[in-house]
Amino acid sequence: MSNRRIVIKSSKPLFGEVAVAGAKNSALAILPSVVLVGEVCRIENVPDISDVSLMCKILSKIGVKINMISPGCIEVDPRCISSVCADFDEIRYMRASYYLIGALLGRFGKARVSMPGGCDLGLRPMDQHIKGFEALGAKCEISGGMTNVVSDRLVGNRVYLDMVSVGATVNIIIASVKAKGTTVIENAAKEPHVVDLANFLNSCGADIRGAGTDVIRVNGVSKLRGTTYQIIPDQIEAGTYMIASFATKGNVLIKNVITRHLESVSAKLMEIGANIEYKEDTLRVSYDGKFNRCNVKTMPYPGFPTDMQPQMVTLLTRCKGTSMVTEGVWDSRFRYVSELRRLGAQISVDGHLAVIEGGNDFIGNCVKALDLRAGAALIIAGLFASGVTTIENIHHIERGYENITEKLSSLGADIRVVESSNNRKCYHVLGA
Ligand code: EPZ
Repeated sequence: MSNRRIVIKSSKPLFGEVAVAGAKNSALAILPSVVLVGEVCRIENVPDISDVSLMCKILSKIGVKINMISPGCIEVDPRCISSVCADFDEIRYMRASYYLIGALLGRFGKARVSMPGGCDLGLRPMDQHIKGFEALGAKCEISGGMTNVVSDRLVGNRVYLDMVSVGATVNIIIASVKAKGTTVIENAAKEPHVVDLANFLNSCGADIRGAGTDVIRVNGVSKLRGTTYQIIPDQIEAGTYMIASFATKGNVLIKNVITRHLESVSAKLMEIGANIEYKEDTLRVSYDGKFNRCNVKTMPYPGFPTDMQPQMVTLLTRCKGTSMVTEGVWDSRFRYVSELRRLGAQISVDGHLAVIEGGNDFIGNCVKALDLRAGAALIIAGLFASGVTTIENIHHIERGYENITEKLSSLGADIRVVESSNNRKCYHVLGA
């Protein structure tokens, strides 16, 4: 396990401007879907994060050629796939590896993929993915930690998702693009990265309608062609910097955003007292003298995003009074609260509800990133805590945030990554 840590010294308010990278969850859906396309595609604005590197490694292990054309631009050549079996270790280090099932099934009529991994947010079943594949006529079997799917001929069908699922929506879109006839996905996820995937596949000749609504219609096509496609900006990275600016009483211009993707985040921050100015593809978030308590419920898009929940809870610890946050998507997404308590947070958790008693000061300490967004929340907390905060297990954070310490340093934060010998206790690093 890496002994690299992030060390943050209590920072002044963040000031300056920061550019948002391409969307992680778009890249993790689009890259494996190139396997379905079967032709060379050039994907631009790909974020430089470890999950993308891992996805590229997974694709190359089944024979996909990956060429880094320039920073953020990847050429993906899926013409010589060597295997429909992906049973290597890397598969279980991320959730999005399961998109390979839809892509291989859609192109070759079969796939054998290890069960995925990903952030520990409670139960993360795949029953809706399987429901979709079976509706298309595939035989599915999960045994020995592998998902095996096979079909002589995928035929379009109607699929009603029992709950809104980004992954199942994406996987069923991918698997149905070349099926015979029309597939209708009802109760579909509407996240921006679902729309981005549909736009990418349509630019390759697919016929997908209604992405971004809860009914997506896929008219099967027989042939797809290569394309060049630019990934949308990452609305969760943008939202994370919005909260970092506001929580440190700063004033930051966030560039390269699609503001309508951030409407629910902006609305909540303004309710808490932030000043937000929009201008084309930028938005400025500044502190306006107040932190009002507030209640938040995370929901599928366009509701307040679950991937912003830890960052929002951290912000609400600054707001005097009692705030409540309800997690409406995941079974268990408050595990990180124990780490916030080590900094001084007064939060009680009961199942899907966190009750935050805000307004008391945070004091720096040694904490652990338990997952990607929880790690980002700890960085925000370290920025406004007094003293020094050290964050371990930073590999979680590097999965989804491109150059986060450099970007925050450019905004005036005193933050850096330090290597420490394995046996050195955290407090040594604290003194660093
Ligand atoms: C995607 O995960 C994102 N990951 C997650 O972001 C995000 O939290 C989530 O969507 C919700 O927006 C990627 O895109 C790689 P779901 P996914 O299927 O697709 C249940 C991050 O921080 N469910 O929408 O796995 C599931 O248990 C990550 O970037 C089933 O019950 O999420 C959950 O309660 C963390 N059966 C709910 O649906 C299924 O077959 C939503 O899950 C599928 C899902």
